[in-house]
Amino acid sequence: MSSGPRIQPSILAADWANIQHEVERIHAADGVHVDVMDNHFVPNLTFGPQMVEAVQRVSPIPLDVHLMISDADRWAPGYAELGVFSVTFHAEASLDPAALARRIRGIGARASLALKPGTAVEPYLELLPEFDQVLVMTVEPGFGGQSFMADMMPKLRALRAAAERHGIDLWLQVDGGIALDTIGIAAEAGADTFVAGSSVYGAADVDAAIAGLREAASAAHAH
Ligand code: DX5
Ligand code: ZN
Repeated sequence: MSSGPRIQPSILAADWANIQHEVERIHAADGVHVDVMDNHFVPNLTFGPQMVEAVQRVSPIPLDVHLMISDADRWAPGYAELGVFSVTFHAEASLDPAALARRIRGIGARASLALKPGTAVEPYLELLPEFDQVLVMTVEPGFGGQSFMADMMPKLRALRAAAERHGIDLWLQVDGGIALDTIGIAAEAGADTFVAGSSVYGAADVDAAIAGLREAASAAHAH
C-alpha cells in the first residue's frame, strides 16, 4: 500500500454480476472494501464468506472486509481465515472486542474496530493497542449513497490523540458519504483511510475519481 491517504472503493456500489472486472478496474486503489451485512445487525443483506472468498481469489488488491453482522465473536475469525488483509467488526456486535482482535491478529489479518454513529469512542481508547485500525462510521451502516455526518469528526480527533499517546500506528478509517466535498473534512480531523462507494463506482472514470479523492485528502492533511 502507498503512504499518504489510502483510498478503498466499496464494492457495495459495484456491478456484482461482473465482480472480477469491478475489482480489476480500480487500479489506483489501495484496497477494496467488502461490506458483509446479515439483515440483523443492519436492515440489509449482502453476502457471506463464500462470496468474500471468491472476491479474494480474483482481486489484485488487498481486501478490507467490513462485517456488519451480529455475534462477531463467533463469525469474524472465519473471515480472517480466508486470508484477507483486514477484518473490521463492530464494537456493538462483540462481547469482548480485545479478545476478538487478538484472535484475528493471531490468524494473520489486521484487526479493526468499527463504531456506529451513536457509539461513543471513549470506552475503547484504552483498547487501541489491540487494533490496527478503527473505523468511524460517517453514516448509519446498512446502505450506500447516504450523506456524510460531519459531527463524527470529534471521534477522529480523540482517536488520533489517543493513538499518539499510546505510540501506535493506528489507521483511522471513515466510511459513508466520502466524496470530493467531504474527504478533506475527515482527513483534516485525522482520518487516513477512506472508503468510497458511490463516489468511485458511480463515476465515469473510476481511477480519476480515486486520484481526485487522494489529492483532496492530501491537500487537507497538509493544513
Ligand atoms: C455502508 C457501507 C459502506 C458503503 C458506503 O453501510 O458500510 O461501505 O458502501 O457507500 P457510500 O460511499 O456511497 O456512502
Ligand atoms: Zn463499509
